[in-house]
Amino acid sequence: MRRRDFVLGAMGAGLASTGALDPFVRGDLTARAVPARGPIPYGAAVRTDLLDTEFDYKQAIVDHCQLVVGEGGLKWFDLRPSQDQFVFDQPDRLIDFADQNGMQMRGHTLAWYGAMPDWTNSIGSASEAERELVHHITTVVGRYRGRVPSWDVVNEAIAEQPESGATIRGSIWQERLGKRYIELALRTAAAADPSAQLVINDYNIENPTQQCRDRRQALLDLLRDLKDRDVPLHAVGIQGHLPGDMDIDKEGLSRFVETVKGMQLDVLVTELDVIDNKLPAREYDRDQVVAARAHEFLSAISEAARPSAILTWGITDRYTWVPMWFKRDDGKPNRPLPLDAGCRPKALMKVIDEFTRAAE
Ligand code: XIL
Repeated sequence: MRRRDFVLGAMGAGLASTGALDPFVRGDLTARAVPARGPIPYGAAVRTDLLDTEFDYKQAIVDHCQLVVGEGGLKWFDLRPSQDQFVFDQPDRLIDFADQNGMQMRGHTLAWYGAMPDWTNSIGSASEAERELVHHITTVVGRYRGRVPSWDVVNEAIAEQPESGATIRGSIWQERLGKRYIELALRTAAAADPSAQLVINDYNIENPTQQCRDRRQALLDLLRDLKDRDVPLHAVGIQGHLPGDMDIDKEGLSRFVETVKGMQLDVLVTELDVIDNKLPAREYDRDQVVAARAHEFLSAISEAARPSAILTWGITDRYTWVPMWFKRDDGKPNRPLPLDAGCRPKALMKVIDEFTRAAE
């Protein structure tokens, strides 16, 4: 089987089982055929601006990934500097890079509370919000129709601390349109590219805390409601920004994935990294804990279902968002990703290999 077929097949597996489009009609069929890495495609978030200047970084992505996703570029802040502008330079560059190297590009993200340009604060009414959201999604998804096999349509919709009656996170969309912005985003994305896998993506659901339990429940309630009303939705993205010093709630996470699968939805891991600010200073020890944590997380998911893809949020410790929020007290650089700062594989890459290459 050619590699692109693997990628397309795995990404589309959930759709096939829900009777939607044949997975092979989705995605870019001009991708170059190169040997498959394994049954589950691996990918990473990419800083597109570095592809032309950092050869080892670019090579690491080419060597390891079947999927890429822009770490930025498709976020409103990057794409929409003003109301009448769409700046597609970064995603256009990244999708060309993906094409040239036989990879696929995932799209991240269409409706999120974060990375919003200031002008969106002036969206005053529900009808204006609806017009803007529909225009944005139609334009962006439409531009890459048939070329981006999977979209994080709605990102981080669940409230940080869900309470009864307030389970959806505040955002311009939630404030102007209420919870129906989620359905609107999904329906608009489906109309703009009926072949794409549409994903609801969220985080902080994997630890044995009341907050994670509440967030899992709120997410399941949202999914159930959307499925009951036949809203087009194909998968749940589990981000997987794992706090390195916290256990994984293996049973809770497995049960969550089983319930998701029971709704005929796929799961994928979209943003894996291990936040290591509270882990031991010694690099070897830290890398072992990071790998073990990811192993616990991926085995809890895999026990319940085969993820349609596994992506990390970055590939090398040289470029990671983690120190923006989780700097270490001892000043040592964070090591959350599969390759070290010199792009050499660490223990975490072995774990990813194990899960992506696992037998059918
Ligand atoms: C982060 C990027 O990594 C940063 O470079 C950017 O400035 C802010 O966003 N969850 C998400 C991602 O869904 O979009 C976030 O990415 C990390 C947390």
